[in-house]
Amino acid sequence: MGKIAIMGAMPEEIEPIISKLENLKETQYAANTYYEGSYKGQDLVVAYSKIGKVFATLTATSLIEKFDCDTLLFSGVAGAISSELSIGDLIIADGLCQHDLDITAFGHPYGYVPEGEVCIPTDAALRTVAKEVAKDKGLTLVEGIIATGDQFVANPERKAWISETFKAHALEMEGASVAVVCSSLEIPFFILRAISDSADMDASFNFDEFLESSAKISADFILSMVEKIN
Ligand code: ADE
Repeated sequence: MGKIAIMGAMPEEIEPIISKLENLKETQYAANTYYEGSYKGQDLVVAYSKIGKVFATLTATSLIEKFDCDTLLFSGVAGAISSELSIGDLIIADGLCQHDLDITAFGHPYGYVPEGEVCIPTDAALRTVAKEVAKDKGLTLVEGIIATGDQFVANPERKAWISETFKAHALEMEGASVAVVCSSLEIPFFILRAISDSADMDASFNFDEFLESSAKISADFILSMVEKIN
């Protein structure tokens, strides 16, 4: 396997991975830090983008074009939409959409722009690896649509709208950017999130409380996937 990119949005999402890297080398590029190293013999490049779609687009593109990664795995936290998801539970995206992309004034559906697609599918082989890891660990994985937007959702009405409009199971702020970049550059990609909150009135309080523990659940799972991909 060539180099695998592991991306998060926040320091807490990649720290559990960086702490396990051997032969760590830090490179500054495009106003960000990229961590190169190996894990159990597999070369990795790890970075957090900062929050939101624009920063995530820049980091995903850099990991592929500048650091030569040929697979991208995203690890982080998300707000739950589906009532079957509780704090700490894992969801893998089978597809990603942008809930804040809106040119409906021109008769298009929410999340659609010409020559794009509302929902971009993730790599099926990587999802299969994830299911094998979950089976080995005795963990439950939910698989479904993840909705991305430049909003921290802490509002039951917005959450219900995203649920109905996109049939999404969870929401966050970076996944669809990674999907656009990787599908355009033909790089297999995978998005994993552990739930930190339920995108409701308590969301910001729960997010602060569970960011670190949920981010670690996701990061540990990603490292187990790296061993299997290897
Ligand atoms: N990531 C984790 N929780 C979130 C929320 N409620 N809204 C947007 N992104 C999130």
